[in-house]
Amino acid sequence: MYKTEQHQVSEAARRNTHLDADGYERLYRQSIEQPDTFWAEQANRFVEWMQPWSKVQESNMARGEAAWFIDGKLNVSANCIDRHLAKRGDQTAIIWEGDDPGQDRRISYRELHEQVCRLANVLKARGVKKGDRVCLYMPMIPEAAFAMLACARIGAVHSVVFGGFSPDALRDRILNADCRVVITADEGVRGGKNVALKKNVEKALNDCPDVHTVVTVKRTGADIAWHEHRDVWYHEACAAVSADCEPEPMDSEDPLFILYTSGSTGKPKGVLHTTGGYLLSAALTHHYVFDYHDGEVYWCTADVGWVTGHSYIVYGPLCNGATTLMFEGVPTYPDASRCWQVIDKHQVNVFYTAPTAIRALMALGNEPVKSSSRASLRLLGSVGEPINPEAWEWYYHVVGDSRCPVVDTWWQTETGSIMIAPLPGATNLKPGSATRPFFGVEPALFDNDGNEVHGVGDGNLVIKRSWPSQIRTVYGDHQRLIDTYFSTYKGVYFTGDGARRDEDGYYWITGRVDDVLNISGHRIGTAEVESALVLHDAVAEAAVVGCPHDIKGQAIYAYVMPMRGVTPSDELLVELKAYVSEQVGAFARPDFIQWTPGLPKTRSGKIMRRILRKIACDELDTLGDTSTLADPAVVEELIEHRLNRA
Ligand code: WT7
Repeated sequence: MYKTEQHQVSEAARRNTHLDADGYERLYRQSIEQPDTFWAEQANRFVEWMQPWSKVQESNMARGEAAWFIDGKLNVSANCIDRHLAKRGDQTAIIWEGDDPGQDRRISYRELHEQVCRLANVLKARGVKKGDRVCLYMPMIPEAAFAMLACARIGAVHSVVFGGFSPDALRDRILNADCRVVITADEGVRGGKNVALKKNVEKALNDCPDVHTVVTVKRTGADIAWHEHRDVWYHEACAAVSADCEPEPMDSEDPLFILYTSGSTGKPKGVLHTTGGYLLSAALTHHYVFDYHDGEVYWCTADVGWVTGHSYIVYGPLCNGATTLMFEGVPTYPDASRCWQVIDKHQVNVFYTAPTAIRALMALGNEPVKSSSRASLRLLGSVGEPINPEAWEWYYHVVGDSRCPVVDTWWQTETGSIMIAPLPGATNLKPGSATRPFFGVEPALFDNDGNEVHGVGDGNLVIKRSWPSQIRTVYGDHQRLIDTYFSTYKGVYFTGDGARRDEDGYYWITGRVDDVLNISGHRIGTAEVESALVLHDAVAEAAVVGCPHDIKGQAIYAYVMPMRGVTPSDELLVELKAYVSEQVGAFARPDFIQWTPGLPKTRSGKIMRRILRKIACDELDTLGDTSTLADPAVVEELIEHRLNRA
């Protein structure tokens, strides 16, 4: 196997980087010791304001409250488009690479301006006003970015729902945010297959009587249902309006978007981000963590349906005047060399992807990589889950030819932007560690009794002070924000992740400490899968846990107790898996379903998840105490019929 000397890695990166080690230390210290000075400088450098702020920030971490650049006014779309027009109107803003390798498109900043203005005018004409919520259910096409920016331009709040979500999940999100307008496409295209987006919208809208407008992009030309007064074609509507639309001056704390994410309990939460602080953090991290230089081509493989797509395909790169690549397809279509072909074709300099993709490609061998040049590559990034050292080394040595630093970036939907990551040329790398905190981020570790762990040690990862792109509220339920993030430990933000800090002050994220699963970088609450299962007539009770998976990081393991009179069968198993796909989305489909006559519970009726996790992980020697169970015999039965064995 490969072995990386950490020193070599930083040397490789130390060519023309924005910062060196001293630069990082100096700026980090300033960001902690004189935060107002630091943030004021950055906000003036990275963001263009229509009206200056009167105060840098005000926060109350105990109440989960934060406000940044108070009284400042700006418009995100003006920052991402208009201010670049004079200098880089003809520069490519977005390179679109289609699912089919023969299809691509380049959109200049000038064209971006026109497209966004037109769509903004369409939304206005359909009655959308500042503060209204607009749902986006889009494939990975440039119109997805146009739609986000068009909302931002007129002060509407977008709620992007990942195209892999089911009609039911889409409906829940439309209703929760009270969206009246949906933007979608007839179909999406991924890995040679068509995805029936408009059809899913039709199903979802059966229960959403307040949606008065659906704007549909013609992507494949598939036959779709059409409702005369509600439906408009994207291309027709845009052609009929003006190509100019003045950006709406927004307050720094006005909402920019809502993005739903899973927690350990209940329905997904609508994470709300605001304008000034979010944009600054997205741009600043994009500049420093990817060491982005003018003229470079930058490619983040995420979907715009997730926060990574928001911050690092659209807002961060465009605010910095970058060329951002948007890929419609999947890494293995038409074959395993697709990513490397795309890198050569578009001369990509920075490549940002997820460990699950790296592991999947690694499993296909080195040949598909070696058939490409990748000479344009300068930097590699990783996000979404802990990257195991084997995958890290392969990424570094095989993909990056031992020449490109790997930045492992830890953050969350709630944090809005990267929180812990190395800076190329400034931070020595250690395979598997997200390394050091970004500017203004003050992480800490707490034990289960609420005491802070100092120095080297393990604990629950918290953030001690407010940062600009901090979650502002859970849409419609501020109490849930306080309960979820600001109550476990008083006065600090609780991440839900565990971490270790080593002798160099480096952080090693160990994964979630709550009931949230990470399946191929997709965040899923065990409660969501359980509610889907128990909705089925044949299911009396269900408990879901995660277990390790070589490629996906984690797999979904469900214990299902059938209703009285129901005979468990293989057919029923298949049906249940499909049922979960339908309820939530294909990525939430259980890998294992084990039938059981009962679930291990305490005498007070609480399901003992710890035991279920151990059985699913085939870790029987560390099962622990089962004496507090109401019916210990159930455990014997579960062990005997367990499915995931070495
Ligand atoms: C959870 C957040 C925002 C990135 C996309 C996922 C895990 C994310 C890392 C990393 C270890 C990571 C954490 C976190 N995670 N990045 N570099 N190393 N774990 O966003 O869906 O909100 O999920 O993803 O467990 O809490 P998300």
